[in-house]
Amino acid sequence: MKFDTTIVRGRSEPDPTTGAIIPPLYQTATYVLEEVGKDKGFDYTRSSNPTRQMLEEHLAAIEGGRYGVAFSSGMASVDSCLKLLGSGDHVICSDDVYGGTSRHFNRLLVNYDMHFSYVDSQDAANVEAAIRPETKMIWIETPTNPLLRITDLDAVGKIAKEHELLYVVDSTFATPVFLKPLEYGVDIVLHSTTKYLSGHNQLIGGAVITNRDDLFERLKFIQKTVGAVPGPFDCWLTILGLKTLHLRMQRHWENAEKVAAYLEGHAKVAKVTYPGLVSHPGHQIAAEQMSGYSGMISFELKGGLESGKALMNSVELCLLAESLGSVETMITHPATMTHAEVPQEERLARGFSDGLVRLSVGVEDPNDIIADLEQAFKNA
Ligand SMILES: Cc1ncc(COP(=O)(O)O)c(C=O)c1O
Repeated sequence: MKFDTTIVRGRSEPDPTTGAIIPPLYQTATYVLEEVGKDKGFDYTRSSNPTRQMLEEHLAAIEGGRYGVAFSSGMASVDSCLKLLGSGDHVICSDDVYGGTSRHFNRLLVNYDMHFSYVDSQDAANVEAAIRPETKMIWIETPTNPLLRITDLDAVGKIAKEHELLYVVDSTFATPVFLKPLEYGVDIVLHSTTKYLSGHNQLIGGAVITNRDDLFERLKFIQKTVGAVPGPFDCWLTILGLKTLHLRMQRHWENAEKVAAYLEGHAKVAKVTYPGLVSHPGHQIAAEQMSGYSGMISFELKGGLESGKALMNSVELCLLAESLGSVETMITHPATMTHAEVPQEERLARGFSDGLVRLSVGVEDPNDIIADLEQAFKNA
């Protein structure tokens, strides 16, 4: 099956009992046994559920992997990956990651004697230089949230292989439409399915995909033991969302290209960051490893924080909100919203100022998005 067909059809067939094209929603906590010791493949929904299984198989198929494991949020997926490690272990992490991920590492996992080094993974040599005897995992986000930095997955993959380190990539911003991390030796691909994969701001969810039998077994064990599982209805909604992923991503990308070009030419804008722009430092690597540049843009205004705030308070069509990856265009202030818990000095060291604005470009008419920004810029 070609990729677009896999996106639409996943691994599900019409329901054999009724012919229903959309898979049934198995909204149940438990299952009746045929007799003691004999069930029909399902015993309790925390362990497995047919709707969740359909989603997991669909996600694995789209990512080009063998196994999918779904969680109740992107953060539950992050947490479950880290539960593969133990006390004393060390993780090398991209220095620009989603604020919730670094909060989880720095404020929770350090209490369990786990250690983290943050490196600029745009240069793979920085990853290698940070390896210690107790290093067990490399954690890469590409493109990163919010600075849209790009890591050369192949270069880091060689390092992970040589040093036998678990290689995890958070591919939430790219989606399987534009990037297939498993092709670069990545062990686990992670998604916040809250974002593009479900795509309509309708739920919170997460998932990991792997080709490795051993990791699948361990992640399934963590899933059922910890119980951070998505409800069947959220799984069902995610399946519906997934079916149009390729169409939405194409339009997110096309719209983002137009909005980025508009912003780059705007007199009040100091800097635009978008992997599709030749001015982006990771553009060349992105062009090689991605088949499109997705829909996220970051930019700074010449007037700094005050101008950025005025712009965000003046938009009408663009929605001032947390999150990203939905059909609606959303504008975010990372310093007070998604990355509020990253200390200011750390944010500045990473290279993002309090004036940074993040735009998740939706699939509306691009002229309306640009017109809204244009009217908002008058107050900025
Ligand atoms: C790159 C990335 N990874 C993980 C997450 C966490 O996902 P969730 O909000 O579904 O827990 C987010 C949330 O914004 C994100 O942007």
